[in-house]
Amino acid sequence: MKENVKQYFLKWVIFLAVGIMNIAAYGEDGSRLWLRYDLLPDSLSKSYIEAFHSVTFPENTATRKVAATELERAFAGLTGHSLYGNGKVEAASLIVGTGNEKVVKQFHLEKELDRCGDEGYVLKTITINGDKMTVLAANSDAGLLYGTFALIRLMQTGASVNNLDIVESPKYQLRLLNHWDNLDGTVERGYAGLSIFWNQQEDSANVHQRFVDYARANASVGINGAVLNNVNAAPKVLTAEYIHKTAKIADVLRPYHVKVYLSVNFSSPMVLDSLPTADPLDKKVIQWWKKKVDEIYQAIPDFGGFLVKANSEGQPGPQNFGRTHADGANMLADALKPHGGVVMWRAFVYSPNDADRAMQAYNEFKPLDGKFADNVIIQIKNGPIDFQPREPFSPLFGALDHTSEMIEFQITQEYLGQETSLAYLAPLQKECLESDTWSQGKGSTVARVTDGSLYHNKITAIAGVANVGDDTNWTGHPFAQANWYAYGRLAWNHELTARDIAKEWIIMTFSHSTEFIKPALDMMMRSREAIVNYMTPLGLAHLMGWSNHYGPQPWCQIKGARADWLPPYYHRAAEDGIGFDRTENGSKAVDQYFSPLKEYYNNLQTCPDELLLWFHHLPWEYTMHSGKTLWEELCYHYYAGVDEVRLFQKKWDRLKGLIDNERFNLVQQKLKTQEKEAEWWRDACLLYFQTFSHRPIPKELERPVHDLKKLMEPKFNVKKTK
Ligand code: GCU
Repeated sequence: MKENVKQYFLKWVIFLAVGIMNIAAYGEDGSRLWLRYDLLPDSLSKSYIEAFHSVTFPENTATRKVAATELERAFAGLTGHSLYGNGKVEAASLIVGTGNEKVVKQFHLEKELDRCGDEGYVLKTITINGDKMTVLAANSDAGLLYGTFALIRLMQTGASVNNLDIVESPKYQLRLLNHWDNLDGTVERGYAGLSIFWNQQEDSANVHQRFVDYARANASVGINGAVLNNVNAAPKVLTAEYIHKTAKIADVLRPYHVKVYLSVNFSSPMVLDSLPTADPLDKKVIQWWKKKVDEIYQAIPDFGGFLVKANSEGQPGPQNFGRTHADGANMLADALKPHGGVVMWRAFVYSPNDADRAMQAYNEFKPLDGKFADNVIIQIKNGPIDFQPREPFSPLFGALDHTSEMIEFQITQEYLGQETSLAYLAPLQKECLESDTWSQGKGSTVARVTDGSLYHNKITAIAGVANVGDDTNWTGHPFAQANWYAYGRLAWNHELTARDIAKEWIIMTFSHSTEFIKPALDMMMRSREAIVNYMTPLGLAHLMGWSNHYGPQPWCQIKGARADWLPPYYHRAAEDGIGFDRTENGSKAVDQYFSPLKEYYNNLQTCPDELLLWFHHLPWEYTMHSGKTLWEELCYHYYAGVDEVRLFQKKWDRLKGLIDNERFNLVQQKLKTQEKEAEWWRDACLLYFQTFSHRPIPKELERPVHDLKKLMEPKFNVKKTK
């Protein structure tokens, strides 16, 4: 057979095989996430075939193997061609290797490699004797893995690969997912089925493939660690049985450079081995943890460390024994230190008798600054309360000068509509990361406070509470996949824009067609603000039903329950107005921020509208910057939120036929549900607040569709099923 006929034949065999595999195995059920690798339009695939007609990729380690396999799989899917090298540098048009390998050394990329650090990569087009070739170089296998996925992403998004000059390195050392997965297989605040880690027969082939796909997805965006169990940790996770299970998961994730971590219960020595105390200064307790940590590292030599929720929401902690957070964290840190492990100690704390829950984390942790071991990092939720649709950033950011601080975002949509709502979270995360703390003067953003560029933190890290479950499409709502993706991309580089990330995700996940991209992007970019508007506009927060955190219940009072679990504590609606006074005249929470921010929040003239009722309690007739009264402004925001969801529906309906019916229909159905939920939120909040404001809903707005009495019946807030 002539060479070109052979090539042609081979192309079609590969193309058909990949196509059949894809359709048979996946359909468009969302299981392939953004790693779909379907055939690109001809013009694009041709340019990639030309650019990468063969590859030199020495596969001498497990990580290189998976990277090379991924590249081959992606290339075959995207272009219909196979990608394989003949091993000779002269003939290869894509050369992959670390800086100390001969094939790469000849290109003198030392300067670029210096900027890559441990995990970064260089992707560079080099012309030698008139021949163009692409070099993917790094200082480690991990860098090669990330560079491989970056190259795949370029092809997936249709970018030119002819003049590459990319040098990348991640902004944070540890880029983690926190899974709130319980050992019984349920997932706390999980809306996409059961746990992928604990619910299954871990030996079955299917589950193995699920772990592999999970690891691929993480590696593709640069996530390099996963805490496998709930922060409300069952002590059982430290038994031999569970260490063994964890080790098996670690084995699958390892080639993809994803380390495993565990959440631990501070009372574990008491529960598991009947020690009379878990006092962190008790010798036997110290010994117990050392032994336990040694046992873990025996099974998992690259184990990452512990995440700890202590003295929070009923979880035990060092304070039970008269010790401090620092005593507790340092004891665990000591045990982990010889193995290179870290302790992520959460600052999510609040107590029932606190006058202002928003202040407690700062109050407890600020006095401990400088007292933590150097392998401890304080994990702080983005806002001072709890992952609300909008909060100011936590005042702890920048307040600990001598302690490493990390940020915790929530990817699962506990407070943003759970699995029925389209809520693209990158704008929320960017808003927080770009907030200026002023801790070291102007430009001390939360991003810089946490990424080490301002304080030279010993460890830098970022965490996202995962939205992954065993649903076929991983995340319940097809658009929720974007939040996993975007979190990873921002963890790698918080300077990327939310829009650019969304755009690449849409192209990879749905379509290259601009007819589709533009409206889908617009929906995503507006989605978070729509939710803020119909749930908690103008700085309101925590108006949801207690326990399941689903649906509005601004009226909720429960005898015997803690006040700070319930909405009235937060909105403080009364005849005289609405909002939580955190100014100098109120709880003084503003004082926890640096100047000039505290003055800015304290002053009604400068406090931004979107945080107004977070910091101020104001009369219903208060005149807003817009000239409207506060009551009118509230009404307009609630209605605008509902209108946005209706607009999303219209936009989406017009996209029919541009993508597969399977995902189109699912999103369409979810948007319908979201519209109902938006109306429910709007009516519940406005009608309830109206009982205090005694003002009419402006005439030009439509009438509420609900009756307040009915909404207040407990049966209304029953968790929907999927
Ligand atoms: C929220 C959430 C809980 C979770 C807690 C935490 O309160 O509703 O389910 O345990 O945050 O972050 O620890």
